[in-house]
Amino acid sequence: MKNNIAVIILAAGKSTRMKSDMPKVLHKLCGRAMLGYVLDLVASLKPRQVVVVLGFKQEQVRKIIPKSVKIALQKRLIGTADAVKAGLSALKGFKGTVLVLYGDNPLLKKDTLKKLLDYHIKNNVDATLLTAQLKKPAGYGRVIRDKYFSVCGIVEERDADEVEKDIREINTGIMAFKKEILDSNLKYIRPNNRKKEYYLTDIIGILAKKGCLVEAVKAEDLQEALGINTGAELAGANFIMQKRINDEFMQEGVTIVDPATTFISFGTKIGAGTVIYPFTVIERDVKIGKRCSVGPFAHLREAVRLGNDVTAGNFIEMVRAKIGAKTFVKHFSYIGDSSVGASVNIGAGTVTANFDGLKKHYTIIKDKVNIGSDTVIVAPARIGRSATTGAGSVVTKNVPDNAVVAGVPARTLRKKR
Ligand code: UD1
Ligand code: MG
Repeated sequence: MKNNIAVIILAAGKSTRMKSDMPKVLHKLCGRAMLGYVLDLVASLKPRQVVVVLGFKQEQVRKIIPKSVKIALQKRLIGTADAVKAGLSALKGFKGTVLVLYGDNPLLKKDTLKKLLDYHIKNNVDATLLTAQLKKPAGYGRVIRDKYFSVCGIVEERDADEVEKDIREINTGIMAFKKEILDSNLKYIRPNNRKKEYYLTDIIGILAKKGCLVEAVKAEDLQEALGINTGAELAGANFIMQKRINDEFMQEGVTIVDPATTFISFGTKIGAGTVIYPFTVIERDVKIGKRCSVGPFAHLREAVRLGNDVTAGNFIEMVRAKIGAKTFVKHFSYIGDSSVGASVNIGAGTVTANFDGLKKHYTIIKDKVNIGSDTVIVAPARIGRSATTGAGSVVTKNVPDNAVVAGVPARTLRKKR
């Protein structure tokens, strides 16, 4: 089955309802562009070919598309049917099933797609849509069924009459077609609607009228149906995605004391036995070891690495920082552009002053260092192994191994050994 599937992902649209300059599919859920989730999902199906249709600000979207995926350009954004036409132009010579996905549908899961494709292929259907029964169907295309309960069309909300608006079965936008059926019928779609666009959804009515076999598979998890068109919908989807991410960590032995106030980006790695306390924000590209303690109120920004048994306590901000095993950074500290060794104790209120107004500079703190409370380390600086800084020190130059420094600016008081 898998060798006979090609996927077209529609991602050419603007961000009109988001009221944003950025292409909609680049808006993020848990730190990752929504199109990224769709691309991952598609890759997991191992289809023969994948085409993404781009248009609005395509050069920005291109950056997140892997090399194995083809790109087709939609010249004028005149509707989803025209976008599919552009996608098909990259699938010349392919025969089999074409799965159409929308780039603004990031919560979809693999099992659901598999179910749809299995049904479509086993029953030799011409067009199979994924539908969902929603309590509040507003905004979506409604599925029209005839007296035999067969699908006979889709009507978009803005073109629907009052009776049609009451229909709760909606079109998720996910459809599987026989390639030749899609190829030969797109041309019958006319822009006879309020938006004067070529709607892909019209193909369902066209096929039904011709006597083609059109079927619907219902999504069991209604969250998967969510298409994101507005900022509020983005926030709603972000909430669901965050829950999925947090649930997965908890299954792997990470304790999240309050999942509702813990924001962990997609792609974060956290070792088993680690406890994340409430009000913690973890941004992209963060790796946390085993048995660490993070938060409450910790902000780990990009490229943070915590070794095993590290404590990053309350009101901590870290960015581009590597922290060695068994190191404590317990209270009110900013550690940026830094490499901190193992078994270091960083006192309350420590700041690595990494920015001189023009450039960022690096701080190195070696193993077993003791940083006194309220130390400011003016980078670039290196604090040698087992050195100590007194409370309130302002370190402006390198500190040798085993030295004890204090004052403003910090001066060496003595050597430990
Ligand atoms: C669409 C469906 C609607 C369905 C809903 C599910 C149509 C006409 N309507 O509506 O039935 O309930 O999705 O979420 O298909 N795009 C292009 N080129 C275009 C226009 C759109 O590539 O010319 C892309 C967009 O980038 C987006 C996707 O197609 O990823 C869907 O477009 P969108 O405008 O979000 O359609 P909806 O109004 O949500
Ligand atoms: Mg949409």
